[in-house]
Amino acid sequence: MTAKIITFGISKGGCSKSTSSGITSFLLSKKEKVLAIDMDGQGNLTSFLTNEYDICNVFEEKTVLEAILEGDARPYIINIGKNLDLIPSNDFLATLPRKMFEKQLKLDALQKALEPVMEDYDWIIIDTPPSLSEQTVLPLSTYSEGGTYAVVMFDGSMFAYYAIPKFLEIVEGAKERYNPSLQTAGILFSLIDSRAKENDVMVEAIEEDYPQLKFKTVIKRKASTRRLAIEGFEGNSELRNALEHYIPFVKELKKRVNQKQPQESN
Ligand SMILES: Nc1ncnc2c1ncn2[C@@H]1O[C@H](COP(=O)(O)OP(=O)(O)OP(=O)(O)O)[C@@H](O)[C@H]1O
Ligand SMILES: [Mg+2]
Repeated sequence: MTAKIITFGISKGGCSKSTSSGITSFLLSKKEKVLAIDMDGQGNLTSFLTNEYDICNVFEEKTVLEAILEGDARPYIINIGKNLDLIPSNDFLATLPRKMFEKQLKLDALQKALEPVMEDYDWIIIDTPPSLSEQTVLPLSTYSEGGTYAVVMFDGSMFAYYAIPKFLEIVEGAKERYNPSLQTAGILFSLIDSRAKENDVMVEAIEEDYPQLKFKTVIKRKASTRRLAIEGFEGNSELRNALEHYIPFVKELKKRVNQKQPQESN
């Protein structure tokens, strides 16, 4: 096996990148081997999957920052569940651009760090921050023979709508320069309030602007999904309800990824 890499991103904050990448990692790990990587210094994916919020201390010098700077992810992978591993992050990830400059590392630095483990996983799921910085470009620039894909998160807002073309431009740039295997898996509507009428307009706009890209599954806003960050996955009595919309999403994602062969253009 060579891992398929899925990067969740959008430069608008709060569109459910961390929640969606965390739940996707959890669901995929039910049957396959998954490495989740937190590329956001906020460490939300790290906290979401480990229930550990004291990330600065607990993961001090044990994060994706060190993995990238040393060019080897192996010492920084922690096991957090059956078939589920994580490379955590914390606030020190903010120093990544400066440290990369000092070490003269290029945008293939995450790829180099992951090369030794690429055959160990079926999936590598990456959460990114709400910016088009190194933390987003590095994952998109990471080539895998298994294929690499971007999931564009969209919360139905105007702010996010205008962030989509900018994100897709970054995807194109990474594809041209570093990663010919990169493809956009799709645009995922999330945090959607079933009662909000303007969503229909946004659905139409996305379908017109980006034919074929919208995932059929829509992730609706749910209190039980929000509470996952508090309750965690283990022994959570409302887990089934919290994951309701993500189960069809993960099925659809797998189907799309299997249909899009690596190297094929969008
Ligand atoms: N389907 C959902 N239903 C209800 N709340 C949700 C859902 N998905 C995410 N949330 C909540 O919305 C907020 C934003 O989600 P999240 O932190 O995953 O977004 P993000 O895109 O990662 O944010 P950032 O840009 O800051 O990294 C969080 O409080 C999260 O618990
Ligand atoms: Mg986040």
